[in-house]
Amino acid sequence: MHRLTLTIMACLLSCLALTAQEERERFVSDLMAKMTVEEKIGQLNLMPGSSFSTGEQKDSPLLQLAAEGKLGAVLNMSGEKDLRLLQDAANRKSRLGIPVMAGLDVIHGYETVFPIPLAMSCSWDMEAIEQSARIAAKEATADGICWTFSPMVDIALDARWGRIAEGSGEDPFLGGCIAEAMVRGYQGNFSEQNMMACVKHYALYGAAEAGRDYNTVDMSRIRMFNQYFPPYKAAAKAGAGSFMTSFNIVDYLPATANRWLLDYVLRKGWGWKGFIVTDYGAIDEIAAHGLGNLSKASAMALKAGTDMDMCSGGFIKTLTQSLDEGKITLQDIDTACKRVLEAKYRLGLFHNPYRFLDSKRRSTDIFTPEHRRFARQMAAKTFVLLKNDGNILPLKPQGRIALIGPMAHNRANMAGTWAPMARRSEIVSLKEAMEQRLEDKAHIDYAQGCNFTGDPVLQADGGAWIAAPWKNPDTLLVEAISAAEKADMIICAMGEESEMSGESHCRASLEIFDAQQRLLEQLLKLGKPIVLLNFAGRPTVMTWEQNHIPAIMNVWFGGSEASDAICDVLFGEAVPSGKLTVSMPQATGQEPLYYNQLPTGRPVGENAQRFRLYKSNYLDVRNDPLYPFGYGLSYTTFDYSDITLEGRTATVRVSNTGNYDADEIVQLYIHDVEASISRPVKELKGFKRIHLAKGESTQVSFTITDDMLSFYNQELEYVLEPGDFEIMIGPDSSMKNLKKATLSITD
Ligand code: NOJ
Repeated sequence: MHRLTLTIMACLLSCLALTAQEERERFVSDLMAKMTVEEKIGQLNLMPGSSFSTGEQKDSPLLQLAAEGKLGAVLNMSGEKDLRLLQDAANRKSRLGIPVMAGLDVIHGYETVFPIPLAMSCSWDMEAIEQSARIAAKEATADGICWTFSPMVDIALDARWGRIAEGSGEDPFLGGCIAEAMVRGYQGNFSEQNMMACVKHYALYGAAEAGRDYNTVDMSRIRMFNQYFPPYKAAAKAGAGSFMTSFNIVDYLPATANRWLLDYVLRKGWGWKGFIVTDYGAIDEIAAHGLGNLSKASAMALKAGTDMDMCSGGFIKTLTQSLDEGKITLQDIDTACKRVLEAKYRLGLFHNPYRFLDSKRRSTDIFTPEHRRFARQMAAKTFVLLKNDGNILPLKPQGRIALIGPMAHNRANMAGTWAPMARRSEIVSLKEAMEQRLEDKAHIDYAQGCNFTGDPVLQADGGAWIAAPWKNPDTLLVEAISAAEKADMIICAMGEESEMSGESHCRASLEIFDAQQRLLEQLLKLGKPIVLLNFAGRPTVMTWEQNHIPAIMNVWFGGSEASDAICDVLFGEAVPSGKLTVSMPQATGQEPLYYNQLPTGRPVGENAQRFRLYKSNYLDVRNDPLYPFGYGLSYTTFDYSDITLEGRTATVRVSNTGNYDADEIVQLYIHDVEASISRPVKELKGFKRIHLAKGESTQVSFTITDDMLSFYNQELEYVLEPGDFEIMIGPDSSMKNLKKATLSITD
């Protein structure tokens, strides 16, 4: 198209955008001119809808609040019928008829459940991740939801932290790409099939000390900016409509009351314009952090830039009085109210409060065959093949297979944490999927083999609908041995229950539970080939397994279609391509373990096999992970040429040298050799997911941009310092697998 035409079109578009924004602002300010202070504060109030059960709605306090104009939004309530009652109360009974927003934790799918976010990050497939968010939005909006508390973009370096399952792992660059993809997928162009994203948990929630949920966070600002902030910033730049504060302190102030964090960094620094909601009860918790009562905490939070109070009741109960006492100003309330109303406007709720309450869509848009097909393909992309000695995998669909372990026939646990809407009754177990797949080709002998843990109380913690019932361990073992004795090969499906990761579910030891390892030891004695499928919401320590079990695949929690997807990969209909986005430790004591660490003054050296005195290492375990960040095997093999560097373009030739057509994830790392502050030993700065037929080769190029070489210095300025940069390209982050070249940047 002619350049002038393009420029005119761009101008027109920006005029249109401006007009839309102006229109929104005008609408909101006209509305606010009619609102009382109480009504404005009402918009800042988010309440739970969990207790709103059908049949009792008439007297529900929620309906009353909505009718009085004292409810801005509701969470944990879905379904056209209930939400319509609530919307009616707000829209038809309240003085100004301001609609209510319905929010929910739609974290990895709605009724069609995708793999847990940590698993999805291992696909490194941005289009697929975006599509998963798009489908989640389509399903949730068909059920009345217009706001999701996702994506969770907290960098997590410590696998003890249960919520590592909900994020995208340890890398800020990859985390940023995923954050953007999810925001795009959820929000699209704010049609009636899109919902507003809520980026959480701002900020640094994943840095809880010792991996214990809700614990203290303390870190330098340099580290925040370089390592923890990038995904939040990427999501802000992608136009996320809302952010959620984290429970933790940042610089000794709870995030919810931290003006520097909310106003200076997020709003002024990144130019972000959405509204900020607290996490559940976070204003209440300010008191527990030792900063004063609910009234003081509410005023602090509002003044810091928090706009909506999730379930503390602090804003609705105390702000009017704080205003009378001069602790806050009307301007503070107006600013927050305006942001909330603008979000409702963006969602189209003022044009049609019933926009997301179309009863017909429930039957056409949810859990469709198309969504399920996509979920199955997605799941297969997230599995990470960790070991495959003697190419045991893929399996031939023949003979007698013993399928053993607490996850082998366990429908309830397939979906993973944070899947409240999963259609558990329609999820098939691995046993069922495998029996259907193999029908008359092979015989399956199933046995549970063991309980998840040796501790019935710990096992029951997952909640009644998920926890596997406790059974006699001796009987289980006898059944397993008898099944295995008859078989040609053994598949063990074990690991964590799905609720052993996620919020509030942290672990002080990351090994496979003793009860399960004992079963593996017994099975190993039979001398048959064993494949271990590890179900987990976090990195697992599998040092013993790596030494003894010939094939290991990490399958995380793969969602509604996980069982079929696992069969696809086990029997070679899909080739594994997932790569770790978290380092897998050799021992829990290595945590927090991550690849992009800073160098020390006493490096132990890449090849050190044993403990070395006065070096930075341990007596009893080497520094490196069991499986490094970026690692994952395929059924085929790939060869990487050396790097050719032409100007700023680094190129390698990647060849598929094995026997399967397959995908490979090519990774670019950079190390700043000398700088004004200490810089990580390497950092991921680019990646490409490519497909190569067997025998095929292709060139993969990366253009090294200024951004890839820049960092925040001691003054927190974003700088590119001239000098040498090591450019590394390869299949994972381990030095031995990376090709290297040096790029020199002069003034
Ligand atoms: C608390 C969790 O920290 C947060 O992630 C979630 O969105 C809210 N509860 C709402 O359920």
